[in-house]
Amino acid sequence: MVLCDKGLFTLHTNNTTYQMKLGACGVLLHTYYGPRVEDCDLSYLIRYADRGFSPTPEEAGRDRTFSLDVVPQEYSACGMGDFRLPSLDLELPNGSRSADLRYKSFRVEKGKYALEGLPAFRGEEGETLIVVLEDAAAGVDVELYYGVLENYDVITRAVRLVNRGGHTVRVRQAASLCLDFQRGDLDLITFDGKHVLERRPNRAPLLPGVRSAGSVRGNSSHQHNPFVILCEHDAGEDHGLCYGAALLYSGNFQAAAERSQFENVRLTLGIHPWHFCWTLAPGESFTAPEAALCCSGQGFAALSHRLHRAIRERLIRDPWAGQPRPVLINNWEATEFSFDAERLARIAESAAAMGMELFVMDDGWFGARNSDEAGLGDWTVNREKLPGGLEALVPRIQALGMKFGLWIEPEMVSEDSELYRAHPDWAFQIPGRGKVRGRQQLALDFSRREVRDHVYGALKKVLSSADVSYVKWDVNRSLAAVWSAALPPERQGEVYHRCVLGLYEMLEQMRRDFPHMLIEGCAGGGGRFDAGMLYYTPQIWCSDNTDAIDRLRIQYGTSFCYPVCTMGAHVSAVPNAQTGRSVPVETRGIAAMHGTFGCELDPSQVTPEEREIIRRQTEFFKERQALIFQGDYYRLSDPFQNGPFTAWEHVSPDRREALVSVVCGPAQGAPPFLALRLKGLDPGLRYQAGGEGSYPGSALMEAGLPLPLPWGDYQARQFYLTAL
Ligand code: GLA
Repeated sequence: MVLCDKGLFTLHTNNTTYQMKLGACGVLLHTYYGPRVEDCDLSYLIRYADRGFSPTPEEAGRDRTFSLDVVPQEYSACGMGDFRLPSLDLELPNGSRSADLRYKSFRVEKGKYALEGLPAFRGEEGETLIVVLEDAAAGVDVELYYGVLENYDVITRAVRLVNRGGHTVRVRQAASLCLDFQRGDLDLITFDGKHVLERRPNRAPLLPGVRSAGSVRGNSSHQHNPFVILCEHDAGEDHGLCYGAALLYSGNFQAAAERSQFENVRLTLGIHPWHFCWTLAPGESFTAPEAALCCSGQGFAALSHRLHRAIRERLIRDPWAGQPRPVLINNWEATEFSFDAERLARIAESAAAMGMELFVMDDGWFGARNSDEAGLGDWTVNREKLPGGLEALVPRIQALGMKFGLWIEPEMVSEDSELYRAHPDWAFQIPGRGKVRGRQQLALDFSRREVRDHVYGALKKVLSSADVSYVKWDVNRSLAAVWSAALPPERQGEVYHRCVLGLYEMLEQMRRDFPHMLIEGCAGGGGRFDAGMLYYTPQIWCSDNTDAIDRLRIQYGTSFCYPVCTMGAHVSAVPNAQTGRSVPVETRGIAAMHGTFGCELDPSQVTPEEREIIRRQTEFFKERQALIFQGDYYRLSDPFQNGPFTAWEHVSPDRREALVSVVCGPAQGAPPFLALRLKGLDPGLRYQAGGEGSYPGSALMEAGLPLPLPWGDYQARQFYLTAL
């Protein structure tokens, strides 16, 4: 609900309230964001005092109590007396670096706004508030967009700059979100890691100064995720005030939180200002990507439930929103580059017998791709490996009752490729400097239309040559040596963003041309796991690390923002290729059910008993997929605490069904008797816990479910609960 009353703008969702108010000097103040409150003007919370070294704007005259450095603002500027984190930084033709924003107008539109060329939540039944601020000297209007997804407790934001003046302005920074808090006692949680160990939650109280996390790698990155949480010091899974902020963007980003001198916090989130500079000529506009805000007064579980539901129902698009996903087998870990049609067909045959529904041919099927040193960019079938092409292979797979999928890496090129030999200038390299290789490959300049057209043309031909139901869209290096031969020197600061726009455009084109195809995102595993990608790719390969025990941590961290149905997770062979660890197949399967579930091994290399276990797990997963994907997800333990087990739970929306998964750690002598307290059940119902007896929901939640004593390392159990 959007209420606008004499300069007071209030947004209500079912459980939260967000408010801003036109203040002195025409400055748009931020008054409140938090659990829902009755309608009132919350600007009574804003206090004014003469603060030393906090200057006042000219319009304030002799009033020394109004300083941009002190008041909470809706969208911060810079260079004009606010020394805290900027949201907007403009370079005017005279070389000055500043921005100064005053309220201009507002309008309310039915339905939630969409953004051309950028991902955004949908909300046909929602509303959009647009508040326009103006920088008169720059001639720039700043349109602040607010989308209200009432039933999801999500407020989305986007920012559109319009140059209405007579001269060109250079945009040095345009954050998507600025959020001021009139308190300083908050923790920041960021989700950080590295290749093969992504999204570990790192939580710390904010100290005076700025703490930031971001990426300048061209991708959202393995190292930091464009999702952060701010929360009260004592907030936990089930209690405490917390805020989640996600950026729907897959390129360079910065999340920054500043605790300032007067114990206030400002959070900004948007495109990273490093090497960003957008030239805005008169009449032109620039749109900063969407950010989504969510708030919970009851801890992280409720925060995640709200975000998960919004992502599942309002970000992921048809035909995949709320729909089952195929259980797939991928040949990568089984074969890497060494395969031919016969080997693939054999893998597919055994996979079909295990109940798998989709066979994915990974890297190595095209060009001269016999190792990671060659072939990227040559998107034609390698006829030595696949003599009959896809035209022959796909029907063979389909004859087994399976669908067929393909791996691609469109944004990259190998120096040893026809494409690079024909167009060396299409790969990033700064003139006069050396090449920067990652995995022995170079990155294509996706800001250039002719590059994208060429790559897409080749891909479309392959994808049209057979019935391809799925594509795994990978990217396997960070961008470096970024310089575009197609842009003048003063526009080089646009290249990173133009690459992301180019990526989105191609993904959208692929969705249009192949509307029923499922696209899975991937970036050396989880290097581009963000809400922006989920708009195009409903699932993302969560990590190149398929070790079930490491995966528990990776998937746990991922789950704070992203729902289980977005996490690509597979059963792979042991000893694990990344860690050398051996974990029972039951456990590997249960870990993979914390995701889309599939297989990444050669079935002929595992014992018949293990194949039978995987077959049963596949069957079980298919039967429970709706519960796992659509149910509320509860983290029952924190795997980073090195406790005796890691546990999680899915509860159906009507609370009549639940699936509890428990994975124990390494074996120990005389293990303790443990009981696991469940969550989210109906206290008044009685549940049958598989063959373990039946108990009241209240007992299972307050007293717990007894766990069997483990025998051996990394044992796992699932308990399927149904209401009697
Ligand atoms: C990346 C992906 C893997 C696999 C390889 C192929 O690392 O994350 O799953 O597809 O590329 O080269």
